[in-house]
Amino acid sequence: MHVGIIMDGNGRWATRRGLARLIGHKRGAAQVKKIVKICPRLGVKTLTLYAFSTENWKRAAHEIEGLMKLFRGYLANNLVELHEKNVCVRFIGDPTALSPEILVLMERLRSLTENNTGLQLNIAINYGGRDELVRAAKAIAAEVASGDLTIDEITEGRFSRFLDTGVQNDPDLIIRTAGEMRLSNFMTWQSAYSELAFLQESWPEFTPEVFEETLENFHSRTRQFGAVVPKQPELAK
Ligand code: IPE
Ligand code: IPE
Ligand code: MG
Repeated sequence: MHVGIIMDGNGRWATRRGLARLIGHKRGAAQVKKIVKICPRLGVKTLTLYAFSTENWKRAAHEIEGLMKLFRGYLANNLVELHEKNVCVRFIGDPTALSPEILVLMERLRSLTENNTGLQLNIAINYGGRDELVRAAKAIAAEVASGDLTIDEITEGRFSRFLDTGVQNDPDLIIRTAGEMRLSNFMTWQSAYSELAFLQESWPEFTPEVFEETLENFHSRTRQFGAVVPKQPELAK
Protein backbone atom coordinates (compact mmCIF):
# COMPACT_ATOMS: atom_id res chain seq x y z
CA MET A 1 0.00 0.00 0.00
CA HIS A 2 1.21 3.52 -0.87
CA VAL A 3 0.26 6.41 1.41
CA GLY A 4 0.94 10.06 0.61
CA ILE A 5 0.84 12.63 3.39
CA ILE A 6 0.43 16.40 3.13
CA MET A 7 2.01 17.34 6.43
CA ASP A 8 0.12 20.56 7.15
CA GLY A 9 -0.56 22.66 10.23
CA ASN A 10 2.86 23.04 11.90
CA GLY A 11 2.57 26.83 11.89
CA ARG A 12 -0.93 26.94 13.39
CA TRP A 13 0.03 24.31 15.97
CA ALA A 14 2.80 26.62 17.20
CA THR A 15 0.85 29.87 16.92
CA ARG A 16 -1.98 28.46 19.04
CA ARG A 17 0.56 27.83 21.77
CA GLY A 18 2.13 31.27 21.50
CA LEU A 19 5.27 29.77 19.94
CA ALA A 20 7.21 30.69 16.78
CA ARG A 21 6.15 28.85 13.60
CA LEU A 22 9.58 27.26 13.38
CA ILE A 23 9.01 25.48 16.69
CA GLY A 24 6.01 23.86 15.00
CA HIS A 25 8.19 22.77 12.09
CA LYS A 26 10.67 21.30 14.57
CA ARG A 27 7.91 19.28 16.21
CA GLY A 28 6.77 18.25 12.75
CA ALA A 29 10.22 16.91 11.89
CA ALA A 30 10.19 14.83 15.10
CA GLN A 31 6.80 13.45 14.06
CA VAL A 32 8.23 12.26 10.73
CA LYS A 33 10.58 9.91 12.58
CA LYS A 34 7.72 8.23 14.46
CA ILE A 35 5.51 7.88 11.40
CA VAL A 36 8.29 6.38 9.27
CA LYS A 37 9.07 3.89 12.01
CA ILE A 38 5.50 2.58 12.31
CA CYS A 39 4.93 2.01 8.55
CA PRO A 40 6.07 -1.64 8.34
CA ARG A 41 3.73 -2.64 11.20
CA LEU A 42 0.81 -0.89 9.48
CA GLY A 43 1.43 -2.56 6.13
CA VAL A 44 2.55 0.63 4.40
CA LYS A 45 5.13 -0.26 1.72
CA THR A 46 5.54 3.19 0.20
CA LEU A 47 5.25 6.51 2.04
CA THR A 48 5.42 9.85 0.24
CA LEU A 49 5.84 12.88 2.49
CA TYR A 50 5.18 16.40 1.18
CA ALA A 51 7.89 18.41 2.88
CA PHE A 52 8.23 21.56 0.74
CA SER A 53 6.16 22.65 -2.25
CA THR A 54 7.15 24.73 -5.27
CA GLU A 55 4.81 27.37 -3.80
CA ASN A 56 6.45 27.40 -0.37
CA TRP A 57 9.18 29.73 -1.70
CA LYS A 58 6.57 32.48 -1.24
CA ARG A 59 7.07 32.30 2.53
CA ALA A 60 9.22 34.68 4.58
CA ALA A 61 12.97 34.20 4.04
CA HIS A 62 13.61 33.30 7.68
CA GLU A 63 10.93 30.57 7.61
CA ILE A 64 12.40 29.09 4.40
CA GLU A 65 15.89 29.19 5.95
CA GLY A 66 14.59 27.50 9.08
CA LEU A 67 12.88 24.77 7.06
CA MET A 68 16.03 24.14 4.99
CA LYS A 69 18.06 23.91 8.19
CA LEU A 70 15.59 21.34 9.53
CA PHE A 71 15.88 19.29 6.31
CA ARG A 72 19.66 19.32 6.58
CA GLY A 73 19.38 18.16 10.18
CA TYR A 74 16.88 15.43 9.29
CA LEU A 75 18.97 14.15 6.38
CA ALA A 76 22.21 14.13 8.37
CA ASN A 77 20.87 12.79 11.67
CA ASN A 78 18.66 10.01 10.31
CA LEU A 79 21.02 8.54 7.72
CA VAL A 80 22.28 5.66 9.86
CA GLU A 81 18.92 4.79 11.41
CA LEU A 82 17.05 4.82 8.09
CA HIS A 83 19.68 2.52 6.58
CA GLU A 84 19.59 0.19 9.59
CA LYS A 85 15.80 0.02 9.31
CA ASN A 86 16.18 -1.08 5.65
CA VAL A 87 14.37 2.05 4.37
CA CYS A 88 14.98 3.04 0.74
CA VAL A 89 14.86 6.84 0.43
CA ARG A 90 14.14 8.74 -2.78
CA PHE A 91 13.43 12.38 -3.43
CA ILE A 92 10.78 13.78 -5.73
CA GLY A 93 10.60 17.36 -6.95
CA ASP A 94 12.97 19.65 -8.80
CA PRO A 95 16.34 19.59 -7.05
CA THR A 96 17.86 22.40 -9.10
CA ALA A 97 16.70 25.18 -6.75
CA LEU A 98 18.11 23.50 -3.62
CA SER A 99 21.41 24.43 -1.97
CA PRO A 100 24.56 22.38 -2.70
CA GLU A 101 24.74 21.32 0.99
CA ILE A 102 21.24 19.83 0.86
CA LEU A 103 21.93 18.17 -2.50
CA VAL A 104 25.01 16.45 -1.10
CA LEU A 105 23.07 15.12 1.92
CA MET A 106 20.17 13.98 -0.29
CA GLU A 107 22.49 12.12 -2.64
CA ARG A 108 24.34 10.49 0.26
CA LEU A 109 21.10 9.20 1.77
CA ARG A 110 19.70 8.11 -1.61
CA SER A 111 22.80 6.20 -2.68
CA LEU A 112 23.38 4.59 0.74
CA THR A 113 19.83 3.23 0.91
CA GLU A 114 19.08 2.54 -2.78
CA ASN A 115 19.27 -1.26 -2.47
CA ASN A 116 17.26 -1.48 0.76
CA THR A 117 14.15 -3.63 0.51
CA GLY A 118 11.99 -2.26 3.36
CA LEU A 119 9.85 0.87 3.35
CA GLN A 120 10.10 2.97 0.19
CA LEU A 121 10.21 6.56 1.50
CA ASN A 122 9.70 9.36 -1.00
CA ILE A 123 10.45 12.82 0.30
CA ALA A 124 8.89 15.59 -1.78
CA ILE A 125 11.14 18.65 -1.64
CA ASN A 126 10.57 21.58 -3.99
CA TYR A 127 7.82 19.38 -5.39
CA GLY A 128 4.81 20.57 -7.37
CA GLY A 129 2.53 18.28 -9.35
CA ARG A 130 2.28 20.73 -12.24
CA ASP A 131 6.02 21.33 -12.29
CA GLU A 132 6.56 17.55 -12.38
CA LEU A 133 4.14 17.25 -15.33
CA VAL A 134 5.88 20.05 -17.24
CA ARG A 135 9.30 18.46 -16.64
CA ALA A 136 7.91 15.12 -17.85
CA ALA A 137 6.39 16.75 -20.95
CA LYS A 138 9.74 18.35 -21.77
CA ALA A 139 11.60 15.04 -21.37
CA ILE A 140 9.04 13.29 -23.62
CA ALA A 141 9.27 16.08 -26.22
CA ALA A 142 13.06 15.72 -26.22
CA GLU A 143 12.78 11.98 -26.88
CA VAL A 144 10.30 12.54 -29.69
CA ALA A 145 12.56 15.23 -31.20
CA SER A 146 15.56 12.89 -31.09
CA GLY A 147 13.56 10.05 -32.65
CA ASP A 148 13.79 7.75 -29.58
CA LEU A 149 10.00 7.86 -29.11
CA THR A 150 7.08 8.23 -31.52
CA ILE A 151 3.94 10.19 -30.69
CA ASP A 152 1.84 7.02 -30.81
CA GLU A 153 4.05 5.42 -28.19
CA ILE A 154 3.02 8.03 -25.60
CA THR A 155 0.56 6.03 -23.49
CA GLU A 156 -0.54 6.65 -19.89
CA GLY A 157 1.83 3.94 -18.73
CA ARG A 158 4.81 5.35 -20.59
CA PHE A 159 3.96 8.94 -19.62
CA SER A 160 3.95 8.05 -15.93
CA ARG A 161 7.50 6.65 -16.20
CA PHE A 162 8.68 10.18 -16.93
CA LEU A 163 7.32 11.43 -13.60
CA ASP A 164 9.52 11.60 -10.51
CA THR A 165 7.74 8.55 -9.05
CA GLY A 166 8.82 6.42 -12.07
CA VAL A 167 7.56 2.85 -11.82
CA GLN A 168 6.07 3.20 -8.32
CA ASN A 169 2.37 2.54 -7.74
CA ASP A 170 0.05 5.51 -7.35
CA PRO A 171 -0.88 6.43 -3.77
CA ASP A 172 -3.85 4.38 -2.52
CA LEU A 173 -4.53 6.98 0.15
CA ILE A 174 -3.60 10.64 0.53
CA ILE A 175 -3.88 12.07 4.03
CA ARG A 176 -3.88 15.79 4.76
CA THR A 177 -3.64 17.01 8.33
CA ALA A 178 -4.89 20.31 9.80
CA GLY A 179 -8.33 20.65 8.29
CA GLU A 180 -7.80 22.12 4.81
CA MET A 181 -9.55 20.18 2.06
CA ARG A 182 -7.24 20.65 -0.90
CA LEU A 183 -4.26 18.92 -2.46
CA SER A 184 -2.07 22.03 -2.90
CA ASN A 185 -0.27 20.69 -6.00
CA PHE A 186 0.55 17.28 -4.45
CA MET A 187 0.79 14.28 -6.83
CA THR A 188 -1.48 15.81 -9.46
CA TRP A 189 -1.19 12.88 -11.88
CA GLN A 190 -0.76 10.11 -9.33
CA SER A 191 -3.78 11.13 -7.18
CA ALA A 192 -6.32 10.46 -9.97
CA TYR A 193 -7.82 7.51 -8.07
CA SER A 194 -6.45 7.96 -4.57
CA GLU A 195 -8.75 7.83 -1.58
CA LEU A 196 -8.56 11.08 0.39
CA ALA A 197 -8.56 11.61 4.14
CA PHE A 198 -8.72 15.13 5.59
CA LEU A 199 -8.00 15.19 9.30
CA GLN A 200 -8.52 17.92 11.89
CA GLU A 201 -5.31 17.03 13.75
CA SER A 202 -2.33 19.16 12.80
CA TRP A 203 0.86 17.40 11.71
CA PRO A 204 2.53 17.56 15.17
CA GLU A 205 -0.62 15.88 16.53
CA PHE A 206 -0.60 13.10 13.92
CA THR A 207 0.49 10.23 16.15
CA PRO A 208 1.00 6.59 15.08
CA GLU A 209 -2.40 5.91 16.72
CA VAL A 210 -4.14 8.50 14.54
CA PHE A 211 -2.33 7.01 11.51
CA GLU A 212 -3.58 3.54 12.41
CA GLU A 213 -7.20 4.77 12.81
CA THR A 214 -7.01 6.57 9.45
CA LEU A 215 -5.82 3.37 7.77
CA GLU A 216 -8.63 1.36 9.40
CA ASN A 217 -11.13 3.81 7.94
CA PHE A 218 -9.44 3.50 4.52
CA HIS A 219 -9.68 -0.30 4.60
CA SER A 220 -13.46 -0.08 5.14
CA ARG A 221 -13.96 1.86 1.87
CA THR A 222 -14.97 0.29 -1.44
CA ARG A 223 -12.75 1.31 -4.32
CA GLN A 224 -14.52 0.99 -7.66
CA PHE A 225 -12.15 2.56 -10.20
CA GLY A 226 -15.15 3.32 -12.40
CA ALA A 227 -16.57 -0.20 -12.34
CA VAL A 228 -19.57 -1.34 -10.31
CA VAL A 229 -18.49 -3.41 -7.35
CA PRO A 230 -21.37 -5.55 -6.01
CA LYS A 231 -22.16 -5.09 -2.32
CA GLN A 232 -20.96 -7.81 -0.01
CA PRO A 233 -23.89 -10.15 0.73
CA GLU A 234 -25.11 -9.71 4.30
CA LEU A 235 -23.58 -12.20 6.66
CA ALA A 236 -25.99 -15.00 7.65
CA LYS A 237 -27.42 -14.28 11.06
C1 IPE B 1 3.26 22.49 6.87
O1 IPE B 1 2.85 23.34 7.88
C2 IPE B 1 4.75 22.55 6.63
C3 IPE B 1 5.13 23.12 5.32
C4 IPE B 1 4.32 23.58 4.42
C5 IPE B 1 6.54 23.17 5.02
P1 IPE B 1 2.49 24.87 7.58
O2 IPE B 1 3.73 25.68 7.75
O3 IPE B 1 1.81 25.04 6.28
O4 IPE B 1 1.50 25.18 8.78
P2 IPE B 1 0.18 26.06 8.71
O5 IPE B 1 -0.66 25.51 7.61
O6 IPE B 1 0.63 27.46 8.44
O7 IPE B 1 -0.44 25.88 10.05
C1 IPE C 1 1.13 22.09 1.49
O1 IPE C 1 0.89 22.89 2.59
C2 IPE C 1 2.61 21.89 1.30
C3 IPE C 1 3.27 21.02 2.27
C4 IPE C 1 2.72 20.40 3.27
C5 IPE C 1 4.68 20.86 2.06
P1 IPE C 1 0.71 24.48 2.46
O2 IPE C 1 0.40 24.96 3.82
O3 IPE C 1 1.88 25.06 1.78
O4 IPE C 1 -0.54 24.60 1.50
P2 IPE C 1 -1.59 25.79 1.30
O5 IPE C 1 -0.77 27.03 1.14
O6 IPE C 1 -2.43 25.82 2.52
O7 IPE C 1 -2.35 25.39 0.09
MG1 MG D 1 -0.14 25.10 5.70
